[in-house]
Amino acid sequence: MSNNDIRRVAVNGGDGTGPEVVAEGVKVFKAVAELENIKYEIKDFDYGGDRYLKTGEILPDGAVEELAAFDSILLGAVGHPEVAPGILEKGLLLELRFSFDQYINLRPVKLFPGVETPLAGKGPEDIDFVVVRENTEDMYAGAGGFLKKNTPDEVAMQTAVYTRKGCERCIRWAFEYTRKRNQKKILTLVAKTNVLTYGHDLWWRTFQDVAKEYTDIKTDYNHVDACCMWMVKNPEYYDVIVTTNMFGDIITDLAGILQGGMGVAAGGNINPEPGGTSMFEPMGGSAPKYTGKNVINPIAP
Ligand code: IPM
Ligand code: MN
Repeated sequence: MSNNDIRRVAVNGGDGTGPEVVAEGVKVFKAVAELENIKYEIKDFDYGGDRYLKTGEILPDGAVEELAAFDSILLGAVGHPEVAPGILEKGLLLELRFSFDQYINLRPVKLFPGVETPLAGKGPEDIDFVVVRENTEDMYAGAGGFLKKNTPDEVAMQTAVYTRKGCERCIRWAFEYTRKRNQKKILTLVAKTNVLTYGHDLWWRTFQDVAKEYTDIKTDYNHVDACCMWMVKNPEYYDVIVTTNMFGDIITDLAGILQGGMGVAAGGNINPEPGGTSMFEPMGGSAPKYTGKNVINPIAP
Protein backbone atom coordinates (compact mmCIF):
# COMPACT_ATOMS: atom_id res chain seq x y z
CA MET A 1 0.00 0.00 0.00
CA SER A 2 1.41 3.37 -0.95
CA ASN A 3 1.29 6.38 1.27
CA ASN A 4 -1.48 7.76 -0.91
CA ASP A 5 -3.86 5.05 0.23
CA ILE A 6 -3.77 6.35 3.77
CA ARG A 7 -6.47 8.86 4.64
CA ARG A 8 -5.01 11.59 6.77
CA VAL A 9 -7.53 13.31 8.99
CA ALA A 10 -6.83 16.34 11.19
CA VAL A 11 -9.23 16.64 14.11
CA ASN A 12 -9.70 20.02 15.71
CA GLY A 13 -12.43 19.92 18.34
CA GLY A 14 -12.29 23.66 18.92
CA ASP A 15 -14.38 25.44 21.50
CA GLY A 16 -17.13 24.59 23.97
CA THR A 17 -18.97 21.40 23.13
CA GLY A 18 -17.02 21.02 19.85
CA PRO A 19 -14.52 18.42 21.16
CA GLU A 20 -17.15 16.17 22.75
CA VAL A 21 -19.35 16.25 19.65
CA VAL A 22 -16.44 15.58 17.30
CA ALA A 23 -15.21 12.69 19.47
CA GLU A 24 -18.43 10.84 18.58
CA GLY A 25 -17.86 11.56 14.90
CA VAL A 26 -14.34 10.14 15.15
CA LYS A 27 -15.78 6.89 16.61
CA VAL A 28 -18.06 6.60 13.59
CA PHE A 29 -15.20 7.33 11.22
CA LYS A 30 -13.07 4.61 12.83
CA ALA A 31 -15.91 2.09 12.65
CA VAL A 32 -16.53 2.83 8.97
CA ALA A 33 -12.79 2.71 8.21
CA GLU A 34 -12.62 -0.73 9.79
CA LEU A 35 -15.62 -2.02 7.84
CA GLU A 36 -14.36 -0.59 4.56
CA ASN A 37 -10.77 -1.50 5.22
CA ILE A 38 -9.58 2.08 4.97
CA LYS A 39 -6.18 2.89 6.39
CA TYR A 40 -6.08 6.18 8.22
CA GLU A 41 -4.00 8.44 10.35
CA ILE A 42 -5.63 10.87 12.77
CA LYS A 43 -3.91 13.80 14.38
CA ASP A 44 -5.47 16.05 17.01
CA PHE A 45 -5.09 19.80 17.05
CA ASP A 46 -6.12 22.27 19.73
CA TYR A 47 -6.77 25.47 17.80
CA GLY A 48 -9.55 27.57 19.25
CA GLY A 49 -10.54 30.04 21.95
CA ASP A 50 -8.74 28.45 24.92
CA ARG A 51 -5.43 28.25 23.12
CA TYR A 52 -5.87 31.79 21.81
CA LEU A 53 -6.48 33.13 25.31
CA LYS A 54 -3.35 31.37 26.57
CA THR A 55 -0.97 32.13 23.70
CA GLY A 56 -2.47 35.08 21.80
CA GLU A 57 -2.30 33.03 18.61
CA ILE A 58 -5.19 31.50 16.70
CA LEU A 59 -3.31 29.61 13.99
CA PRO A 60 0.41 29.63 14.77
CA ASP A 61 3.03 29.99 12.03
CA GLY A 62 3.18 26.87 9.91
CA ALA A 63 -0.28 25.62 10.98
CA VAL A 64 -1.85 26.00 7.55
CA GLU A 65 1.15 24.31 5.91
CA GLU A 66 0.90 21.42 8.35
CA LEU A 67 -2.85 21.01 7.82
CA ALA A 68 -2.34 21.08 4.06
CA ALA A 69 -0.80 17.63 4.30
CA PHE A 70 -4.14 16.20 5.44
CA ASP A 71 -6.96 14.99 3.20
CA SER A 72 -9.56 16.40 5.48
CA ILE A 73 -10.10 18.35 8.65
CA LEU A 74 -12.83 17.59 11.13
CA LEU A 75 -13.66 20.83 12.91
CA GLY A 76 -15.82 20.88 16.02
CA ALA A 77 -16.90 24.45 16.66
CA VAL A 78 -15.52 27.96 16.98
CA GLY A 79 -16.84 30.56 19.40
CA HIS A 80 -15.69 31.32 22.93
CA PRO A 81 -17.60 33.51 25.42
CA GLU A 82 -14.41 35.35 26.43
CA VAL A 83 -13.32 36.17 22.89
CA ALA A 84 -14.98 39.03 20.98
CA PRO A 85 -17.21 37.97 18.07
CA GLY A 86 -15.40 37.68 14.76
CA ILE A 87 -11.89 37.01 16.07
CA LEU A 88 -12.01 33.22 16.06
CA GLU A 89 -14.48 33.03 13.20
CA LYS A 90 -12.17 35.08 10.98
CA GLY A 91 -8.88 33.82 12.38
CA LEU A 92 -9.71 30.13 12.32
CA LEU A 93 -12.81 29.08 10.39
CA LEU A 94 -12.72 31.61 7.57
CA GLU A 95 -8.92 31.55 7.47
CA LEU A 96 -9.00 27.79 6.80
CA ARG A 97 -11.87 28.04 4.29
CA PHE A 98 -9.94 30.68 2.35
CA SER A 99 -6.42 29.25 2.74
CA PHE A 100 -7.54 25.89 1.37
CA ASP A 101 -9.78 27.52 -1.23
CA GLN A 102 -12.73 25.46 -0.04
CA TYR A 103 -15.06 27.12 -2.48
CA ILE A 104 -18.03 24.86 -1.92
CA ASN A 105 -20.02 24.89 1.29
CA LEU A 106 -22.22 21.83 1.00
CA ARG A 107 -25.18 21.70 3.32
CA PRO A 108 -27.43 18.67 2.99
CA VAL A 109 -30.93 19.25 4.38
CA LYS A 110 -32.53 15.91 5.12
CA LEU A 111 -35.20 15.12 7.66
CA PHE A 112 -34.52 11.63 8.97
CA PRO A 113 -37.41 9.41 10.04
CA GLY A 114 -38.17 9.86 13.73
CA VAL A 115 -36.71 13.37 13.86
CA GLU A 116 -39.18 16.19 14.54
CA THR A 117 -39.54 19.15 12.21
CA PRO A 118 -41.36 22.34 13.26
CA LEU A 119 -43.23 22.25 9.92
CA ALA A 120 -46.78 20.93 10.31
CA GLY A 121 -47.76 18.18 7.93
CA LYS A 122 -44.28 17.61 6.44
CA GLY A 123 -42.22 14.46 6.77
CA PRO A 124 -38.93 12.94 5.57
CA GLU A 125 -40.30 12.54 2.04
CA ASP A 126 -40.82 16.35 1.86
CA ILE A 127 -37.58 17.63 3.36
CA ASP A 128 -34.66 16.36 1.34
CA PHE A 129 -32.60 18.91 -0.55
CA VAL A 130 -29.09 20.28 -0.67
CA VAL A 131 -27.76 23.82 -0.50
CA VAL A 132 -24.54 24.53 -2.40
CA ARG A 133 -23.21 27.76 -0.95
CA GLU A 134 -20.28 29.66 -2.46
CA ASN A 135 -17.69 29.77 0.31
CA THR A 136 -14.89 32.22 -0.52
CA GLU A 137 -16.38 35.55 -1.69
CA ASP A 138 -19.25 37.94 -1.04
CA MET A 139 -19.29 39.99 2.18
CA TYR A 140 -17.11 37.28 3.71
CA ALA A 141 -14.12 38.38 1.62
CA GLY A 142 -13.21 40.97 4.26
CA ALA A 143 -13.22 43.91 1.84
CA GLY A 144 -14.15 47.19 3.46
CA GLY A 145 -13.17 49.32 6.39
CA PHE A 146 -13.95 52.33 8.51
CA LEU A 147 -13.58 56.02 7.91
CA LYS A 148 -13.53 58.39 10.88
CA LYS A 149 -14.00 55.50 13.26
CA ASN A 150 -15.48 56.36 16.65
CA THR A 151 -16.50 59.83 15.57
CA PRO A 152 -20.03 61.07 14.88
CA ASP A 153 -19.14 61.03 11.16
CA GLU A 154 -18.13 57.40 11.17
CA VAL A 155 -18.54 55.44 7.93
CA ALA A 156 -18.41 51.64 7.72
CA MET A 157 -18.13 49.75 4.45
CA GLN A 158 -18.50 46.01 4.04
CA THR A 159 -18.17 45.20 0.39
CA ALA A 160 -19.60 42.17 -1.35
CA VAL A 161 -17.01 40.79 -3.77
CA TYR A 162 -18.10 38.49 -6.59
CA THR A 163 -15.84 37.22 -9.34
CA ARG A 164 -16.76 35.46 -12.54
CA LYS A 165 -14.35 32.66 -11.67
CA GLY A 166 -15.73 32.36 -8.14
CA CYS A 167 -19.37 32.08 -9.08
CA GLU A 168 -18.74 30.02 -12.19
CA ARG A 169 -16.81 27.27 -10.42
CA CYS A 170 -19.48 27.06 -7.73
CA ILE A 171 -22.36 27.03 -10.20
CA ARG A 172 -20.67 24.42 -12.39
CA TRP A 173 -20.04 22.21 -9.35
CA ALA A 174 -23.72 22.57 -8.38
CA PHE A 175 -24.85 21.48 -11.85
CA GLU A 176 -22.55 18.45 -11.69
CA TYR A 177 -23.82 17.64 -8.21
CA THR A 178 -27.46 17.91 -9.29
CA ARG A 179 -26.75 15.51 -12.12
CA LYS A 180 -24.96 13.03 -9.84
CA ARG A 181 -27.65 13.28 -7.17
CA ASN A 182 -30.04 12.22 -9.91
CA GLN A 183 -33.26 13.01 -8.07
CA LYS A 184 -35.59 15.76 -9.28
CA LYS A 185 -32.75 17.24 -11.33
CA ILE A 186 -33.77 20.81 -10.54
CA LEU A 187 -31.13 23.39 -9.72
CA THR A 188 -32.51 26.61 -8.22
CA LEU A 189 -30.36 29.74 -8.14
CA VAL A 190 -31.14 31.82 -5.05
CA ALA A 191 -30.05 35.46 -5.18
CA LYS A 192 -31.50 38.97 -5.20
CA THR A 193 -31.25 40.15 -8.80
CA ASN A 194 -33.97 42.76 -8.32
CA VAL A 195 -31.78 44.78 -5.93
CA LEU A 196 -28.17 43.58 -6.24
CA THR A 197 -28.07 44.57 -9.87
CA TYR A 198 -24.28 44.24 -10.28
CA GLY A 199 -23.11 41.30 -8.23
CA HIS A 200 -26.16 39.14 -8.65
CA ASP A 201 -26.44 40.08 -12.29
CA LEU A 202 -23.03 38.45 -12.64
CA TRP A 203 -24.39 35.36 -10.84
CA TRP A 204 -27.51 35.33 -13.01
CA ARG A 205 -25.62 35.59 -16.32
CA THR A 206 -23.09 33.00 -15.25
CA PHE A 207 -25.89 30.65 -14.22
CA GLN A 208 -27.55 31.04 -17.62
CA ASP A 209 -24.24 30.43 -19.43
CA VAL A 210 -23.30 27.30 -17.49
CA ALA A 211 -26.88 25.94 -17.76
CA LYS A 212 -26.35 25.60 -21.53
CA GLU A 213 -23.90 22.78 -20.80
CA TYR A 214 -26.44 20.91 -18.67
CA THR A 215 -29.58 20.55 -20.72
CA ASP A 216 -30.63 17.51 -18.64
CA ILE A 217 -31.00 19.75 -15.55
CA LYS A 218 -34.08 21.90 -15.08
CA THR A 219 -33.19 25.35 -13.79
CA ASP A 220 -35.13 27.76 -11.65
CA TYR A 221 -34.55 31.05 -9.87
CA ASN A 222 -35.82 32.36 -6.52
CA HIS A 223 -35.18 35.69 -4.89
CA VAL A 224 -33.78 34.94 -1.46
CA ASP A 225 -36.77 36.34 0.44
CA ALA A 226 -39.18 34.26 -1.59
CA CYS A 227 -36.94 31.22 -1.09
CA CYS A 228 -37.42 31.56 2.69
CA MET A 229 -41.15 31.48 2.19
CA TRP A 230 -41.14 28.53 -0.23
CA MET A 231 -38.73 26.57 1.94
CA VAL A 232 -41.30 26.67 4.74
CA LYS A 233 -44.39 26.30 2.57
CA ASN A 234 -43.20 23.74 -0.02
CA PRO A 235 -39.81 22.31 0.96
CA GLU A 236 -40.57 19.29 -1.23
CA TYR A 237 -40.10 21.50 -4.29
CA TYR A 238 -36.36 21.81 -3.79
CA ASP A 239 -33.69 19.45 -5.06
CA VAL A 240 -30.46 21.48 -5.16
CA ILE A 241 -30.08 25.19 -4.41
CA VAL A 242 -26.99 27.14 -5.44
CA THR A 243 -26.43 30.50 -3.79
CA THR A 244 -24.03 33.18 -2.67
CA ASN A 245 -22.02 33.02 0.53
CA MET A 246 -24.04 35.48 2.63
CA PHE A 247 -27.48 34.32 1.55
CA GLY A 248 -26.31 30.73 1.84
CA ASP A 249 -25.37 31.35 5.45
CA ILE A 250 -28.82 32.69 6.26
CA ILE A 251 -30.97 30.18 4.41
CA THR A 252 -29.01 27.20 5.77
CA ASP A 253 -30.00 28.08 9.33
CA LEU A 254 -33.63 28.12 8.22
CA ALA A 255 -33.05 24.85 6.40
CA GLY A 256 -31.28 23.47 9.48
CA ILE A 257 -34.31 23.88 11.68
CA LEU A 258 -36.53 22.24 9.06
CA GLN A 259 -34.39 19.12 9.32
CA GLY A 260 -34.72 19.03 13.10
CA GLY A 261 -32.28 21.64 14.36
CA MET A 262 -28.63 22.63 14.30
CA GLY A 263 -27.71 19.48 16.23
CA VAL A 264 -28.39 17.34 13.17
CA ALA A 265 -27.20 19.76 10.50
CA ALA A 266 -23.76 19.18 9.00
CA GLY A 267 -21.64 21.04 6.50
CA GLY A 268 -18.72 20.32 4.22
CA ASN A 269 -16.23 22.99 3.18
CA ILE A 270 -14.97 21.41 0.04
CA ASN A 271 -12.03 22.02 -2.23
CA PRO A 272 -13.01 19.71 -5.08
CA GLU A 273 -9.67 19.99 -6.88
CA PRO A 274 -7.30 17.00 -6.86
CA GLY A 275 -5.24 17.05 -3.67
CA GLY A 276 -7.48 19.70 -2.09
CA THR A 277 -7.97 19.72 1.66
CA SER A 278 -11.62 19.79 2.69
CA MET A 279 -13.08 20.49 6.11
CA PHE A 280 -16.20 19.07 7.68
CA GLU A 281 -18.17 20.60 10.55
CA PRO A 282 -21.30 20.05 12.57
CA MET A 283 -23.33 23.27 12.35
CA GLY A 284 -24.40 23.50 15.97
CA GLY A 285 -21.82 26.01 17.20
CA SER A 286 -19.83 25.76 20.42
CA ALA A 287 -22.87 26.01 22.77
CA PRO A 288 -20.49 26.77 25.69
CA LYS A 289 -23.06 26.52 28.47
CA TYR A 290 -23.53 22.82 27.73
CA THR A 291 -19.80 22.00 27.73
CA GLY A 292 -18.94 18.76 29.51
CA LYS A 293 -22.57 17.82 30.12
CA ASN A 294 -22.67 15.37 27.23
CA VAL A 295 -26.12 16.55 26.18
CA ILE A 296 -25.42 17.92 22.69
CA ASN A 297 -26.72 15.81 19.84
CA PRO A 298 -23.62 14.37 18.15
CA ILE A 299 -25.37 13.18 15.01
CA ALA A 300 -24.08 15.96 12.75
CA PRO A 301 -20.37 15.09 12.65
C1 IPM B 1 -21.64 28.78 9.11
C2 IPM B 1 -21.37 29.71 10.28
C3 IPM B 1 -20.17 30.60 9.96
C4 IPM B 1 -20.51 31.38 8.70
C5 IPM B 1 -19.75 31.54 11.09
C6 IPM B 1 -19.44 30.78 12.35
C7 IPM B 1 -18.59 32.42 10.70
O1 IPM B 1 -22.49 30.44 10.60
O2 IPM B 1 -20.73 28.00 8.75
O3 IPM B 1 -22.74 28.82 8.55
O4 IPM B 1 -21.10 32.46 8.78
O5 IPM B 1 -20.17 30.92 7.62
MN1 MN C 1 -24.23 29.94 9.40
